[in-house]
Amino acid sequence: KSDSTYDYIVVGGGTSGLVVANRLSEQKNTTVLVIEAGGSVYNNPNVTDTLGYGKAFGTDIDWAYETTDQEYAGGSSQIVRAGKALGGTSTINGLVYLRAQAAQIDAWEAIGNKGWNWKTLLPYFKKGEKLQDPAKHPVLDGSGITFDPAYHGFTGPLKVGWPSTQLNDGLAQKLNATYQNLDVPVQFNHDSNSGDMVGYSLYPKTLDYELNIREDAARAYYYPYQNRTNLHVWLNTHANKITWKDGHEATADGVEVTLSNGKTTVVKATREVILAAGALKSPVLLELSGVGNPDILAKYGIATKVNLPTVGENLQDQMNNGLQFESKKSYADGKSADYVSYPSAAQLFPNSTALGADLLRKLPAYAAQVASANGNVTKASDIYRFFKIQWDLIFRDGIPVAEILLSPYGNLYSSEYWGSVPFSRGSIHLSSADPMAAAIIDPKYFMLDFDFEAQVQAARFIREVFNTEPLGDMAGAETTPGLSTVPADADDEAWADFIKGKYRSNFHPITTTAMLPKEIGGVVDTSLKVYGTSNVRVVDASIMPFQVCGHLQSTVYAVAERAADIIKGRL
Ligand code: FDA
Repeated sequence: KSDSTYDYIVVGGGTSGLVVANRLSEQKNTTVLVIEAGGSVYNNPNVTDTLGYGKAFGTDIDWAYETTDQEYAGGSSQIVRAGKALGGTSTINGLVYLRAQAAQIDAWEAIGNKGWNWKTLLPYFKKGEKLQDPAKHPVLDGSGITFDPAYHGFTGPLKVGWPSTQLNDGLAQKLNATYQNLDVPVQFNHDSNSGDMVGYSLYPKTLDYELNIREDAARAYYYPYQNRTNLHVWLNTHANKITWKDGHEATADGVEVTLSNGKTTVVKATREVILAAGALKSPVLLELSGVGNPDILAKYGIATKVNLPTVGENLQDQMNNGLQFESKKSYADGKSADYVSYPSAAQLFPNSTALGADLLRKLPAYAAQVASANGNVTKASDIYRFFKIQWDLIFRDGIPVAEILLSPYGNLYSSEYWGSVPFSRGSIHLSSADPMAAAIIDPKYFMLDFDFEAQVQAARFIREVFNTEPLGDMAGAETTPGLSTVPADADDEAWADFIKGKYRSNFHPITTTAMLPKEIGGVVDTSLKVYGTSNVRVVDASIMPFQVCGHLQSTVYAVAERAADIIKGRL
């Protein structure tokens, strides 16, 4: 085989792509090429600094995708960030390693994805993970960190743990006392990665404790293995589209790429093309390759190879807002920590039962609205099924309905938060046959009013936490939004300007090539193969059928680990 023919081509050397490339190239006779649009960030301090969240934003390693103007959310567009580098978004993300509530992954199976449930995914969370045991790091004594070894891996490639800069001044314990003093207490959660997320906890991060640097997908899954002669990576190379074998069958035989020197060429795949370009690129690559909604493809003169109208539909994200409070103590000593709480509906909403009943009545209308917004490409009856499952997760299984972070820094307590399971669903589609053109990204933030109610109620909840002892005594005035902007007794309407004017994308886009049965709008089947093709898969965040309450990366890593076993024929 030459340098222009490989068994497998992985499009996108990001979080999921490098896992799959690593695992496939464990087979010595298998050749794997990774095509990555970005370069190496091994020595980029904006990447390696474990306290440097945000430093890479707006630099050349940030795709900075822009949405359409968001009509239900104040009218402005949003920037959705994603990493453009070997390691993908794992090189710019917030390092948080938090999984999902077990019931949420079980819902993947319940909707028709046989074999995908918490029990079958947990071994893959563990397979990828190398938890660095805090008990071996005396500097972390007193920090309040706990975990249950039964749920963790200790020998995988991806280093996970708590940094040596972790705050250990007793704040963790005071916050816990505060949560226990709430009218409806939020219990301490010994390990929020166990499949039971509800409660207050201290989560681990993707970092190398010894070196005190970020652990990204390239450091975990590529650099230690870069001498494998059967694993090649082409950096600064843009994948334009899949090329197909002649004939009726949709069998991929390669990928058209634009090299760093501007030349366009085709690299051949003898077995499979595996898309791992992220939830805001993989669906567009399918469309550029003729896989999608024929009406949309025809607009741009692209011949339909596979008629699969739901490619790019079902886009889901979350909305992120933040409150800030003065701190009476200064946290300027280089130590930091982030504490998380995950309230259930019963803990967040004072009237959870009535709210749930009201929402249940609204679900058919919500489903009809989503379907009509995309020209009924997805069917209201299918969307209703997804929504009913989501309702059951919230009001029966008691999954978290919000994520509340609390981070002290300088003379402030910052509290970023988001409703964890919004119902709104939008879409992403290409805007041109030019593979370099920006896509039309419309997440429809706040389209459905439950999403707004959850976002408002989480803000009220944060205020209550800061009014409860002992935290109440440690914090000063609320600086964002501040009581003069949003009064203490503000109704939902009075919160609207702040919430819709100041929110940002939570950078958790998913479901744009959903793993679902085809008849209810699926794009990939349970082996992650694109319907109608014989050898194209998607293995990134696009395939998740439902949003998860934890952050995405741990689940992306686990899905990719499982995908690799599927491709190897082990499952
Ligand atoms: P990922 O984006 O990792 O990989 C896609 C790769 O494909 C990229 O390397 C890209 O350059 C490449 N690519 C795209 N188009 C291409 C083309 N045409 N040709 C060649 N290459 C192409 N999650 C979490 O768990 N904890 C956290 O703290 C955070 N925080 C966070 C912060 C920010 C700012 C963002 C943007 C996201 C997070 N996330 C997060 C989310 C999480 O990091 C993210 O969901 C996963 O890393 C996505 O992994 P994927 O493999 O799907 O795509």
